[in-house]
Amino acid sequence: MKKDLLSLLDLEKKDFQHLFKRAMQLKDRYAKGIFDSILTGKTLGLIFDKKSTRTRIAFETAMIQLGGHPIYMSTQDTQISRNEPARDTARVLSRYIDCLAMRTFDHELVEEFAQSASVPVINALTDSFHPCQILSDIMTIIEYKGGYENVKIAWVGDGNNVANSWVNAASVLGLNFSFACPDDYSIDQDIIANAGADTMPNIVFTNDPREAVKNADIVYTDVWASMGEEAELSDRLLSFEGFQVNKTLLSFAKSDALVLHCLPAHRGEEISEQVFEAKGAVFWDQAENKRHMHKAILENLILA
Ligand code: CP
Ligand code: NVA
Repeated sequence: MKKDLLSLLDLEKKDFQHLFKRAMQLKDRYAKGIFDSILTGKTLGLIFDKKSTRTRIAFETAMIQLGGHPIYMSTQDTQISRNEPARDTARVLSRYIDCLAMRTFDHELVEEFAQSASVPVINALTDSFHPCQILSDIMTIIEYKGGYENVKIAWVGDGNNVANSWVNAASVLGLNFSFACPDDYSIDQDIIANAGADTMPNIVFTNDPREAVKNADIVYTDVWASMGEEAELSDRLLSFEGFQVNKTLLSFAKSDALVLHCLPAHRGEEISEQVFEAKGAVFWDQAENKRHMHKAILENLILA
């Protein structure tokens, strides 16, 4: 049966471990000039209904470097924008391509595509989840810290799609994770319960950023208004007061704490300019690792 990657709950711990190992192996081989043409003749379709720099280009370059071809389709340029049903589009595309990566608003749309497509479907970000991001971010944590066990990770900010995927990862991998979100923007209880994170002592939910960041090895943040929520920004700026990752907040973390951000960042909002510039080197490694991790994901799903 074909596999999809819609949420990190689709993966078991051993699947995560395989992807980390394989992505690092592919990264190492690429650095040595070895080209693994394992997807020769294969085609990845990308349907994107939201903007993207990293995820799109990381998928496209991953596919090309493995010998395959990407085809990017903005929703506006397809019959989807003229209301051709998802189940028809998915069945048609399955006759042309070997895998589909999709970025859209409603998570149910990606699920609908996955149900109707006969090829693997990858969630490249929905309003609910961003699974591929977290896979490459944990790869980055492993590179910097030697592993993810005995590492305390703190989320500071919005209870958004990226946070939701961290809840799933924390649950499956047993991460030591503290989430700090303002009360009005906390992580959805259904997401927490569905991941079983409500009963796991290693996962803490608070509205106090200092408590979350205390002794943290990793401090992770993301924008306060995600794509599609831009009109709410002025209200959100008030609610997120005290949640900026700045020098004062970081003084509660371990002195060698890393700051992670999926990017794009809004300096002066969720992260201060000073912290961005002082701690930001890791962001570029996070961004690069998306390409290596996407290769491992594509190999795993297309050659399954
Ligand atoms: N981090 C991330 O998904 O970036 P893009 O929106 O540029 O793809
Ligand atoms: N939470 C952000 C992530 C962007 C990569 C958004 O959805 O806009």
